[in-house]
Amino acid sequence: MTTTQTQTMLAWAQTAYGGPDAVAAARVDVPAPRAGAVLVRVDATSLNSGDVRVMRGEPLLLRLVFGLRRPKTPTPGRDVAGTVVALGDGVADLAVGDRVVGELTGAGGLAEHVVAPVSELARIPDGLDAVTAATLPIAGGTAWQALDAAAVASGHRVLVVGAGGGVGTFAVRLAALRGAEVDALCGARAEPVVADLGAARTWDYREVGLADLPQDAYDAVIDVAGAVLLRALQGLARDGGTVVLVNGGEHRVFGPLGRMARGAVLSIGSRRRIRLLAAAVRPSLTAELAALAAAGELVPHVERTWPLAEARAALAHVDAGRTVGKVVVTAS
Ligand SMILES: NC(=O)c1ccc[n+]([C@@H]2O[C@H](COP(=O)([O-])OP(=O)(O)OC[C@H]3O[C@@H](n4cnc5c(N)ncnc54)[C@H](OP(=O)(O)O)[C@@H]3O)[C@@H](O)[C@H]2O)c1
Repeated sequence: MTTTQTQTMLAWAQTAYGGPDAVAAARVDVPAPRAGAVLVRVDATSLNSGDVRVMRGEPLLLRLVFGLRRPKTPTPGRDVAGTVVALGDGVADLAVGDRVVGELTGAGGLAEHVVAPVSELARIPDGLDAVTAATLPIAGGTAWQALDAAAVASGHRVLVVGAGGGVGTFAVRLAALRGAEVDALCGARAEPVVADLGAARTWDYREVGLADLPQDAYDAVIDVAGAVLLRALQGLARDGGTVVLVNGGEHRVFGPLGRMARGAVLSIGSRRRIRLLAAAVRPSLTAELAALAAAGELVPHVERTWPLAEARAALAHVDAGRTVGKVVVTAS
């Protein structure tokens, strides 16, 4: 392994589930990369609503995977962009100095350094900045997989419900890039943003309900908001159309299980299928998104950046559920 000169680093960590106050700054040893992994100097970490779900340990079902009493990985942050500074044994595909981005299943991005498995990383193309790169893996990857789940293609009509947040803004832009005609339901603050990203029509969800939107109209309805009746979503899809549930709902214990079951029941015998999305970690997809961003076709909306020293404020902002586009924590 190649060593670095830094011995300790700033890292945010939590020892119990809870709100942003459960996460505290600490000085810890810089970790050594294990076999098949690299040590990354973190340049930017984007936050997602999934990070605050893990922070709070809600839905409770999530604790079976992420840790019964506290998160197994104390440092939050899965969407990481940075620079390789040391190599673990057996790493041949990356070199010190390479710029990389990825969704790290072990989290750890709210720190100066993180150990990342090579299998979870993509290279950042020349000309693409770290803040933009860090927005791509989870929000961009989820949006892309949601569009794939409905086979969105050129000429399709797509409605994104809850278009203003991280996944929603990507869904609008990526659907437009596929040549679809995109409509968007979002908060009023997000309307100009999603229009800029390619939405033909936008509505404020506090003024307009699903029943007021075009019925029987869409090839794909991508629901990122979650807080709506499935039958109403189904009514928006045309015959043969697909409803994709990105948001599993807010049930405190069971999370998405109820919506998944109701969606399955409503899909029986219907020509308007309801599918619950479970997005996978796909570094090759991150690489494709990074290429689109480097080419200037995909310009993610970053609402605000915070320096690492103020990461708790960034977590609190995402925890409030009011993000328009993406929130990113930067190294300085
Ligand atoms: N299925 C999967 O594999 C997968 C993967 C990733 C994420 N997700 C899920 O996707 C969802 C979105 O994640 P995210 O990180 O993109 O969230 P986010 O950025 O925190 O979304 C916040 C945005 O949602 C808007 N919003 C809230 N309630 C709304 C409603 N009823 N109608 C329309 N807009 C509404 C807010 O607007 P206002 O501020 O105006 O209220 C805000 O702009 C989460 O539930 C997350 O768990 C699922």
